[in-house]
Amino acid sequence: MKIIITNNSHSVAEIACDNVVAQLKAKPFSVLGLATGSTPITLYEKLIERHKKGEVHFKEVHTFNLDEYIGLEETHPQSYRFFMDRYLFNHIDIQRDNIHFPEVMSDVLSAAKDYEAILSDVNGIDLQILGIGQNGHIGFNEPYSSLGSRTRVKTLTRNTVEANRRFFDEDEYQPHLAITMGLGTIMDARHVVLLATGESKAPAIRDMVEGALTASCPASVLQMHAKVTVVIDEAAAALLSDRDYFDWAHKEQLRLE
Ligand code: GLP
Repeated sequence: MKIIITNNSHSVAEIACDNVVAQLKAKPFSVLGLATGSTPITLYEKLIERHKKGEVHFKEVHTFNLDEYIGLEETHPQSYRFFMDRYLFNHIDIQRDNIHFPEVMSDVLSAAKDYEAILSDVNGIDLQILGIGQNGHIGFNEPYSSLGSRTRVKTLTRNTVEANRRFFDEDEYQPHLAITMGLGTIMDARHVVLLATGESKAPAIRDMVEGALTASCPASVLQMHAKVTVVIDEAAAALLSDRDYFDWAHKEQLRLE
């Protein structure tokens, strides 16, 4: 894992943005895996800025979102599709037919399989953006997810439902089921960029980077991936015991580049 520790959430987003822009410049018809949650919002804002400046185009890009709540129409303000339209897709030149989400309004079991099939039709994900849950989940792969899992229906933990309650009105229905890419699906991406900011993510980052490879911390599966870039701020890095080494290794890497 390449670990980049930086001052604040803006520089986290800037570094992630540089990775996406470099990917799209090298391959304009890239397949991007995208994440929701508060963490990547600044990254999406920066991508929109770079697009408006003419530095990056999305005309030939395909996107696959990690997950979606079962039973929420794409027009529902809490659906992840609505989130992505609002924070990214409505502001860039992506073709609507190239935006992919798991289909959550019909037969969800076959929809999960279909998602995998569409992904393999486009030859998989070039660059996958990830956030991380406080319990170490990526996508909606909750603790004890199979480390080899593929896209499927998952029941959310109470912890995750609680953490995401802030997005829903008090008496609004909040789904407890979602379709998510599996950990095996995520591991097939050719490059993974994981972002985390704030002290609430520090335990999950410690477990992911320095802990054992275990389904108790699903993100730890990334220890087995050949190309992962972890971009975190000081607060999210606070519990790393080998902090000095990560800083030193990053400096050496920059010198090499
Ligand atoms: C949700 C999403 C994840 C995301 C996580 C963290 O559970 N399914 O993909 O990483 O939230 O979100 P936040 O960035 O808001 O902390």
